[in-house]
Amino acid sequence: MAKNSLTIIDNRTGKEYEIPIEEGNVIRAVKLRDIKTGPDDFGLMSYDPAFANTASCRSRITYIDGDKGILRYRGYPIEELAEHSSYLETAYLVIKGELPDAAHYRAWEQNVKTHSMVHENIKNFMQGFRYDAHPMGILVGTIAALSTFYPEASKIQDLESRRLQTRRLIGKLPTLAAFAYRHSRGLPYVYPDNELSYTGNFLAMLFKMTELKYKPNPILERALDVLFILHADHEQNCSTNAMRSVGSSHADPYCAAAAAVAALYGPLHGGANEQVIRMLTEIGSVRNVPQFIKQVKAGERLMMGFGHRIYKSYDPRAKIVKQLAYAVFEVTGRNPLIDIAVELEKIALEEDYFISHRLYPNVDFYTGIIYQAMGFPVTMFPVLFAIPRTSGWMAQWAEMVRDPEQKIARPRQVYLGETLRHWTPIDHRPEPTMREDAVSDVL
Ligand code: SDX
Repeated sequence: MAKNSLTIIDNRTGKEYEIPIEEGNVIRAVKLRDIKTGPDDFGLMSYDPAFANTASCRSRITYIDGDKGILRYRGYPIEELAEHSSYLETAYLVIKGELPDAAHYRAWEQNVKTHSMVHENIKNFMQGFRYDAHPMGILVGTIAALSTFYPEASKIQDLESRRLQTRRLIGKLPTLAAFAYRHSRGLPYVYPDNELSYTGNFLAMLFKMTELKYKPNPILERALDVLFILHADHEQNCSTNAMRSVGSSHADPYCAAAAAVAALYGPLHGGANEQVIRMLTEIGSVRNVPQFIKQVKAGERLMMGFGHRIYKSYDPRAKIVKQLAYAVFEVTGRNPLIDIAVELEKIALEEDYFISHRLYPNVDFYTGIIYQAMGFPVTMFPVLFAIPRTSGWMAQWAEMVRDPEQKIARPRQVYLGETLRHWTPIDHRPEPTMREDAVSDVL
């Protein structure tokens, strides 16, 4: 009977080591430390820049099969949730692990909406940003500032405190995001209207003007709610890794969430939806697509919205977003950039460069086209990613806090620097040789 283990022969010593294989395809990296050349040897370490092949945790929240283009939250296919669920119901599922019954859903909705208001001082804090401050920068700052309003959030081992901070963050993110948008437009802030749905209230806080009560367009409200469902969680992506890593030091969840938003802001991650629109606008016309593709194949440009660390096939979310775009256009009118995007996708999927690099549209490729059609400025696009991902970050954070195997995240390194040198008086030193990574001394 085949044994579920690896046998490693260290050719330096001829010694054999047996390392168990767990969960079907996992070996514990720390077992490599047993492989030594002698008692004083540190042992072996695995080296995995950007964690391309390293599991940092065990999780039961989201399952992705990158080759088959499968995405499931707690076992439910994303396609079914996008068709039948709502964002708040999906957030409940991601966080609690089960779909709610009617009574629990009503309680959950009420508990989240209860926390849609923010302390008035947050408004004053937000006034300190320049009018043209990127809303993601405002979001990072204001989420971290929430930490100072709720010091009890530092009791991360307290289940009720974790639940309360989770409801607060999910409830307040749309308000903070809408306030950041209104600040950039020089418009008065609109307070939450809890008679509206979670997503309808967000649209009201963004777009309400002089009318007594904002009535969200039901098609746009549903489209944005589906987009929120699609963005709720995505296992151990860069921003979730930041949430878990900062949370592992037992910092409060607001500081950890601020770090997660900061990671999401990057153009290679959640900031990609903003960069896609800038890319499509720069291409400008379908006839310029071949020239752009040539630049990408020459390695001069990235095709923003394409490629993924896990999906080596079509991101299942991108398929849903693409269909959603046409429903939104029925209300907003067609965004002509969709023609450039469809042509880019068509050519790219035929080109050997994209096929050989297994590059397909990801969730960010079509979302910006919808957001722009709905009237959002491009700087708000990553904010629309951060709002729903808050439920995923909080679920992953709580799972990390409860995991008995988890400790403070502290990776090792492969040291390549100088060995031992001694300080010398400044008059006895040669002119420093400038290494390629040294910052210029001449300011
Ligand atoms: C999200 O991780 C998640 O789950 C993220 C996310 C989530 O829901 O949380 O799904 C959300 O962040 C989606 C990704 C959004 N980012 C972009 O669209 C930016 C453009 N994409 C690339 O930067 C890239 O594809 C990444 C960052 C998404 C993935 O990068 P990897 O897995 O580290 O791959 P890589 O950078 O090592 O690239 C492998 C090769 C390279 O070529 P070679 O040097 O080997 O010749 O593929 C090339 C890359 O140059 N490549 C691209 C490309 N993406 C990869 N070439 C052109 N255009 C691209 N978009």
